[in-house]
Amino acid sequence: MRHDRHSPIGVFDSGVGGLTVLKALIERLPLESTVYLGDTARVPYGTKSPEVVTKYSLANAEVLLEYGVKLLVVACNTASAAALPALREALPIPVVGVITPGATVAAHATKTGKIAVIGTPGTIASGAYQQALASIRTDLEVHTQACPLFVPLAEEGWVEGEVPRMVAEKYLSGGLLSRGVDTLVLGCTHYPLLSTIIQQVAGPAVTLVDSAHATADRVAEVLQERDLLKRERLATERHYLVTDTPNRFIEVGARFLGHSISGARQIDLKLKG
Ligand code: DGL
Repeated sequence: MRHDRHSPIGVFDSGVGGLTVLKALIERLPLESTVYLGDTARVPYGTKSPEVVTKYSLANAEVLLEYGVKLLVVACNTASAAALPALREALPIPVVGVITPGATVAAHATKTGKIAVIGTPGTIASGAYQQALASIRTDLEVHTQACPLFVPLAEEGWVEGEVPRMVAEKYLSGGLLSRGVDTLVLGCTHYPLLSTIIQQVAGPAVTLVDSAHATADRVAEVLQERDLLKRERLATERHYLVTDTPNRFIEVGARFLGHSISGARQIDLKLKG
């Protein structure tokens, strides 16, 4: 489908998490129309193999292309880690992931040169943040930790109190924070919801980096470079697509997006192979 500056931006994630990225995108580029696809039938991606995550990501992108999107945002860290090269090769539009923007902010924020990255098992095992950071600065020391339990805690809205604090202490206090890191990358869509507790456990000397805003800035740059920014206030549309029934997405998603979602359409993905 043809696209121009009035075409929407496509955003996909494994479920509700990417709404944290969509929120930053809407704040940064309020005139742009958006189509968000949450693959709620297949979430989580974080514990799946890169091959499977790539297959799902290509199918998500294909649906969004049918909506005539002019740029694709891969809001999911796990999908950005696994599928970005395959998406860039397959698609005729620019593709922006969340890892390089987040890594860039972290590389500039650190003073000690010691950075911690937390994410899903898939993101951490992929080495994508480590590679992105090394390509920006060669003198960095990077420590990583997978924190899978943060995802269900954020979805349950269990972001304060004893249970998330104990989980955060277990993941972070041992090896990760004892190494003099001064910057901690929240390398998963869900972790910004737990940032208060993570900051308390990490202490005031550690700066948390969330890639959502840096990704929104990168989207603005790419659209500007290609003369694809929408300039009129008229006809800004928000569409939400999901692969499971929409009820839970609408309910949980409101917390991630910061306001209510009026409706979401259920669709089927055409998976290849
Ligand atoms: N969206 C995923 C990410 O940012 C977290 C949820 C999942 O495992 O699918 O890595």
